[in-house]
Amino acid sequence: MAQLWGGRFTKETDQLVYAFNASISFDKKMYKQDITGSMAHVKMLGKQGILTEKEAKDLEDELQNILNELESGAIEIDDKYEDIHSFVEATLIDRLGDTGKKLHTGRSRNDQVALDMRMYVRSEVEQMDLLLKSLLETILRIMEENTQTIMPGFTHLQKAQPITLTHHFGAYFEMFKRDRQRLFDIYERMNYCPLGSGALAGTTYPLDREYTASLLGFKGPTLNSMDGVSDRDYAIEFLAAMATIMMHLSRFSEEIIIWNSNEYRFVEIDDAYSTGSSIMPQKKNPDIAELVRGKTGRVYGALNSLLTTMKGIPLAYNKDMQEDKELTFDAIDTTKGCIALFDGMLSTMKFNKERMRDSANGGFTNATDAADYLVNHGVPFRDAHGIIGAIVLHCIENNKAIDDMSLEELKKFSDVFEEDIFDAISMETCVNKRLTIGAPSEQAMLKVIEAEKEYLAQS
Ligand code: ARG
Repeated sequence: MAQLWGGRFTKETDQLVYAFNASISFDKKMYKQDITGSMAHVKMLGKQGILTEKEAKDLEDELQNILNELESGAIEIDDKYEDIHSFVEATLIDRLGDTGKKLHTGRSRNDQVALDMRMYVRSEVEQMDLLLKSLLETILRIMEENTQTIMPGFTHLQKAQPITLTHHFGAYFEMFKRDRQRLFDIYERMNYCPLGSGALAGTTYPLDREYTASLLGFKGPTLNSMDGVSDRDYAIEFLAAMATIMMHLSRFSEEIIIWNSNEYRFVEIDDAYSTGSSIMPQKKNPDIAELVRGKTGRVYGALNSLLTTMKGIPLAYNKDMQEDKELTFDAIDTTKGCIALFDGMLSTMKFNKERMRDSANGGFTNATDAADYLVNHGVPFRDAHGIIGAIVLHCIENNKAIDDMSLEELKKFSDVFEEDIFDAISMETCVNKRLTIGAPSEQAMLKVIEAEKEYLAQS
């Protein structure tokens, strides 16, 4: 047992209590944030004359040494300490004696941990953004290659109208783009420095909080010390953003699983991203997509946990808040892993363009356009809907597509039909007549692709 606060105690902490209370097994992940936070703190203490220039310099240099040694593996974090803060401080005291004992002047572990966690989350928000950007680049490449790849668009998982693969993937592009915007917003809102909040009521030392904040890349200090030590909104917002990313990945995974099935065969997941069965030799399973879908629940769980943990906590710091870490770290690792794997799976996946095209042909996806043809020739829409409905029924009974019918047969349903109906309901026409912004025609999609390229170049 190694703790910082033995002074007012007359008994050793119970072993089980010690283990229950300790957080070093997981907060050691924040060693870098803890040390850089301390370096900024002592630098500020030196500038303010709270420590001598020499003391501040010695502390800063030794903190840098500890960081370098941890990074190179020369020293290791010792789990006998209660938390990462205690480990760093004790190591410093071992090396610098009395000067080391001055590190914690004008600071509490409450504002220290609030700082560490915020810096950790802040850098993970940036990492996640980069992963999303790479995923968007992959999606955009597939979009560029498939502006003429016709496939059925679905509603209720029933074939609805023909679209293109570009159009379908473009929907996911929008989702992940919004996810990045959410991360940007969260970053902006959280980028204020809680250090200097003290335990809850600031300190009596003349700290320069603006200075510390700027050293650590924050926009400024937080404006209420009680809130500074007890705000975990940024973690909750990040968890909500991750839950949304996972929801998007999960929907996409679900589609890939369906498309990769023997019945659909729209896509083939690369061998490197598939797994086999221990008993059925023919199997090639989409486990990665399934795991991404499955892990979504885990990230939702983290969001729910932290919301629930926070809901009953009176101001200011309470130990419950230590529970913010494991689940947030797990959600971050899970979401990052899922984005990266999903990206790899997409970029190696093969698209079976013929199957997609045949599927679009076979499902009366041009029925709306056939009705529109009649409307364009003066038939009221509701009547046109009825006429085409009857034709579809006839086709189903005779196992054919509308396009397979002869003009004479069509004329039995309406004498408005002429030879140009066949061109009007071809898959190409159905897609390429949809010219409004956001619609699937090649012309409309090429404009979108240009806009998305510009967006990626600028963000
Ligand atoms: N391990 C603690 C946490 O994560 C650090 C803060 C401890 N502060 C305290 N007053 N016990 O929240």
